[in-house]
Amino acid sequence: MGVCLSCIGGMGTVIEQNDGGEKDFHNRFIEDRDLGEGEFGVVTLVHDLTIRRANKQKNSSADNRNTKNDEESGRLFIGNDDVGCDYDNSSMACKALRKGMVIKYNTLYAPLKPEVLRREVDILRKLKGESFCLKISSVYETPKVIYIITELCSGGDMFQYVSRRKEDLRADEVSRISFQLLSAVNHCANNNVINRDIKPENIMFVSCSSESELRLIDFGSGTDKVVEGLHTTFAGTAFYISPEMFQNTYTQKTDVWSAGVCLYVLVAGYPSDKLQTAFNMMHKITPGKRNLKNLPNLPDNLPDSFYVMLNQLLEYKHKIRKKASVILESDFVRFHKFASSVDNSNIIGSVGRHALFLDYQKFERCLTTLLATMLTKSELIIFLNTIQNKSNKAAAKEVEVELDEKNEESIPPNQAKTESKSLDVVNVHRVMEILKESEKDQVISMIEQLPRSELYESNAYDISVLKYFVGVRNSVREKHSGSKKRSSASSRARGLGKIPQWIDSSIHSVGAKVRMSLDFSAHSTNSARMRPTSMDGSYH
Ligand SMILES: Nc1ncnc2c1ncn2[C@@H]1O[C@H](COP(=O)(O)OP(=O)(O)O)[C@@H](O)[C@H]1O
Ligand SMILES: [Mg+2]
Repeated sequence: MGVCLSCIGGMGTVIEQNDGGEKDFHNRFIEDRDLGEGEFGVVTLVHDLTIRRANKQKNSSADNRNTKNDEESGRLFIGNDDVGCDYDNSSMACKALRKGMVIKYNTLYAPLKPEVLRREVDILRKLKGESFCLKISSVYETPKVIYIITELCSGGDMFQYVSRRKEDLRADEVSRISFQLLSAVNHCANNNVINRDIKPENIMFVSCSSESELRLIDFGSGTDKVVEGLHTTFAGTAFYISPEMFQNTYTQKTDVWSAGVCLYVLVAGYPSDKLQTAFNMMHKITPGKRNLKNLPNLPDNLPDSFYVMLNQLLEYKHKIRKKASVILESDFVRFHKFASSVDNSNIIGSVGRHALFLDYQKFERCLTTLLATMLTKSELIIFLNTIQNKSNKAAAKEVEVELDEKNEESIPPNQAKTESKSLDVVNVHRVMEILKESEKDQVISMIEQLPRSELYESNAYDISVLKYFVGVRNSVREKHSGSKKRSSASSRARGLGKIPQWIDSSIHSVGAKVRMSLDFSAHSTNSARMRPTSMDGSYH
């Protein structure tokens, strides 16, 4: 966990209209377990004591002893899932944003600028929790921290929600999720908000029930500044980023593209085994040559109307890409409203693919932990350089091929380069080869001992965390810091963002070292995909 040096930041009150300070927060809420980690703070489960007291009163006056409700604590269990729930109608989520400098993982993080801290709250307030956007309930501010209290999404994120289901998704459910996601994107657009980081980890579900509504969360990379023409601040997560975002000139329709990638992932699962292929296919500029039906792992029983919608969402040219409001009227999105009267089969394999991805994420984290703990720093640097050299050569080759293919429309070579190089991934098989070449037999044998390692040979391994670990980045983070020194779009898109919570416990606890790394189940299921740095401190 990081240490907050708020005194260095020297920031006064940031949110003028807040609901109180430290004392008020602790008088009203009790803190429970962590739900996830933000870049500059943690998201925690909290319980509103005023609601608990009211529950207690209600329960005792109803003399309701035989119910599931707990009179002593005032807890009223409302969880309707079968995973042991520790929440009730008093439970909320609390995102704590640190105001000062933060030291974390031996890195000094510059403080978030007050306007950036304010923006997430402003956007949530502006959106009012309508149209499937996360609902904010209150804000507390102390000299060190801003606590943003929102509704709780106990159904987990898109990956967790789908993988917990007993049955594959049905077409009408995919349609309903598409409707809700596009309604949220449309609501943002109507309020001049761009989320800029729409991805499955930021699409959460209110409960685990199969009818649960979704919520678009995390406006930490968002903007609500109206810009005449095009936005130029880079933000997002590589696989979900629109082509125009890579070019740093985008509009609200960048969110439409990201929603399209999420809906592809919803039905096909995260294509860990063919990540670069999927990415290249979506970003293929020549329209005649792009057939989205060929995207990896798509089930073969999706209705044609799904592909019509997908083609609209993933229209390469943002100027002709339709707005969310228009795509909301497409046949597939409207399908769920009358689906019960038509053929509505299950999308084969959707649950299994999501579960497989969550399992692969655990493998990926263990692999990173093993490499980071068992190779010396100089060995790691050589390891990363070998990967980088290889992948640059491979990417250059791909660009050549792509440029040859592009006879209908020419694009600048640097753009093509960005597209084919932008994912910072390497094949697991290649990782093993490099380890073999450098005679790291012990590491290889430990990797082979990881559960189901043989399944993941062809999967894409994300090297950005490893890079971070060996200190490829500068020691002072520039996120939101106002520096105009910019790196290229492609390096930003490589996910050089936050270090996830799991690496703190698995890598930095020296005593636990390899022992911890092999505890396969110990890692949180929170995604390790990282948010690239927003480069422009002005943060439009
Ligand atoms: N309202 C919520 N209910 C339940 N979990 C949440 C909620 N908000 C955030 N989380 C959890 O915390 C994680 C980080 O929150 P998020 O707002 O996305 O922060 P960050 O800016 O670091 O991505 C999420 O991925 C999710 O797991
Ligand atoms: Mg997030």
